[in-house]
Amino acid sequence: MTDSIRILMCAPDHYDVDYVINPWMEGNVHKSSRDRAVEQWTKLYQVLKDLAVVELVEPQKGWPDMVFTANAGLILGDQAVLSRFYHPERQGEEPHFKKWFEQNGFTVHELPEDLPFEGAGDALLDREGRWLWAGYGFRSELDSHPYLAQWLDIEVLSLRLIDDRFYHLDTCFCPLSGGYLLYYPGAFDSYSNHIIEKRVPAEKRIAIAEADAVNFACNSVNVGQTVVMNKASDSLKLQLRDKGFSVKETPLTEFLKAGGAAKCLTLRINEPVLEDVHANTPLESRIIHLEGHLLDAGTMNHALDLVVDNGGSFKVLNFHLGTERKSVSAADVRVSAPSSELMDEIMGQLIDLGAVASDEAVCDVKTEACDLAGVAPDDFYVTTIYPTEIRVNGQWFLVNKQRMDGAIVVSQTKAGIVAECKLLRDLADGDRVVVGVEGIRIVRKSESRDKRGSDEFSFMGAGVSSERRVELVVEQIAWELRQIRDRGGKVVVTAGPVVIHTGGGQHLSRLIRDGYIQGLLGGNAIAVHDIEQALMGTSLGVDMQKGIPVRGGHRHHLKVINTVRRHGSISEAVAAGIIPQGIMYECVHNDVPFVLAGSIRDDGPLPDTQMDLIRAQEEYAELIAGTDMILMLSTMLHSIGVGNMTPAGVKMVCVDINPAVVTKLSDRGSVESVGVVTDVGLFLSLLVKQLERLTSPYEVV
Ligand code: ARG
Repeated sequence: MTDSIRILMCAPDHYDVDYVINPWMEGNVHKSSRDRAVEQWTKLYQVLKDLAVVELVEPQKGWPDMVFTANAGLILGDQAVLSRFYHPERQGEEPHFKKWFEQNGFTVHELPEDLPFEGAGDALLDREGRWLWAGYGFRSELDSHPYLAQWLDIEVLSLRLIDDRFYHLDTCFCPLSGGYLLYYPGAFDSYSNHIIEKRVPAEKRIAIAEADAVNFACNSVNVGQTVVMNKASDSLKLQLRDKGFSVKETPLTEFLKAGGAAKCLTLRINEPVLEDVHANTPLESRIIHLEGHLLDAGTMNHALDLVVDNGGSFKVLNFHLGTERKSVSAADVRVSAPSSELMDEIMGQLIDLGAVASDEAVCDVKTEACDLAGVAPDDFYVTTIYPTEIRVNGQWFLVNKQRMDGAIVVSQTKAGIVAECKLLRDLADGDRVVVGVEGIRIVRKSESRDKRGSDEFSFMGAGVSSERRVELVVEQIAWELRQIRDRGGKVVVTAGPVVIHTGGGQHLSRLIRDGYIQGLLGGNAIAVHDIEQALMGTSLGVDMQKGIPVRGGHRHHLKVINTVRRHGSISEAVAAGIIPQGIMYECVHNDVPFVLAGSIRDDGPLPDTQMDLIRAQEEYAELIAGTDMILMLSTMLHSIGVGNMTPAGVKMVCVDINPAVVTKLSDRGSVESVGVVTDVGLFLSLLVKQLERLTSPYEVV
């Protein structure tokens, strides 16, 4: 007998499955046999008595789970952290365990109310005493871990549980003597698995299969080289034997019905303290402030989900609900994460949502100088489409030239601090680039319900049939186009060749002629097929009137390219009277600028096609500047390119027959984007009709 080890148990006098607080209890309420439970518990008690000193706490009527003494608290040396049970069903056990700890000479630490922590069920000492593994995700809160670190003065490694069958750390994780670890990797998130792999060398890790895990093989009591458990497969036994352990099986099926086994039924009460290890918990906390239509717009849910999805935890410190439909809500939330890397990840995403770091820790933005032109410092902040401000010397400055996927460069000029978005390739050696997430805030326009319903044309949720829906959205777009034209605003179109193939060319031409369009963006193809139609009546060799291929038609577009090349440019070909009509003709005639961006598959290309892609991106960006609305017509490539350059606030209408394209583009998270899944030719014809109706309201069309 290793008499240095002491274990606390509680006889199953009042044990039963009375309620359901974990998946194992489901379907097992009052299905366990008291006699068999007593017999199994007694067997375990005897096995352990041969290995250690077992002490008993008196069972209490009405608290059936009190047999699971692992959940009484956590002990290290003469310090005990009392559990705060998550479920009310077990909270009544707390005073009894507290009394036992006090009577046995422990200093008892109690966590703040509402901060659940379920004792040694969720906190396991490395058997060498080097650190404490602590679980969270179901029963214990991540925020309890810093208390453990402080009170027990030990490093805490937080592990996130993600499978509700393994709701306590001790159901899937068991440190063994000699630095070995028996565990079920599937119960943890990837970051936690990474931590485990970093701390425990491969040859010391005994990863078990699900079949053993569901038999509670990890829920073992380890004394010296003996591992006591409910049941193990032959291969697991062999594996353990290989590492010098002997398995002692003792059936605990009655307790499995409540979600516990050997380890749950015990609490080690004399964990030795190592002199030279001390607390060093990497857990980080920050307070963020959120404001806006937090419930209506779903921001609150989104923010909290994002924290948890990234392995963090939160506590809502206060929440002021705007009482009127128009009034905004505000919330302060404490966010915790098990490491500073995860904290940065979470903060980055929260900032994108519009959160502002509001703890005293709000400080100025951090910058680092580029040490290589065209390359940002590793930790550079990646911009979004939303207006962004940075804090310098305690003051907030708006970032200029906002666009997504850029870096923020801060400079001190005579006029003061200037910040602007730059693409990586435009960074100069020595540019000061914003890094990390401190001192950055995003100004998200808060959309009220009313606004979203009327002014903005969001139609996705409307409960009407899809044809009617297209008509409705076309009505709204037509109205908007009219407004923009009448106030001298700017509308830019990105168009793919499908516009021509679907017969939309004449309608787009009309829009340009009538002054609705102030810029055209596309590739080689839209121009080639538009001119082909203007010259030969075909689009990619298909007769646009009859809809059938023309003999030799596949050469048409090359003839067209050749003709334009002979004249030197599209505008020269128009001037020479070669191109009599069409989209490009209207652009030239009406002084509507266009940029054609080339690609690897371009035939020709036309002399106007910009084959230097960096130049093409720059020309696109110049043309987009100051735009009120962008119509994206059946060209995924050019539309995504445009989307990336465009700040929030510009209305975008994406029309494509492929729903995936529409979703991708309209899902920028801003209300200004709208998607229309339909044939682009049809869309344009409806749009032109609608505009005619607006122009001559008394005419019946
Ligand atoms: N029915 C108990 C509960 O759900 C079982 C506790 C098992 N204990 C443990 N340390 N895993 O709380």
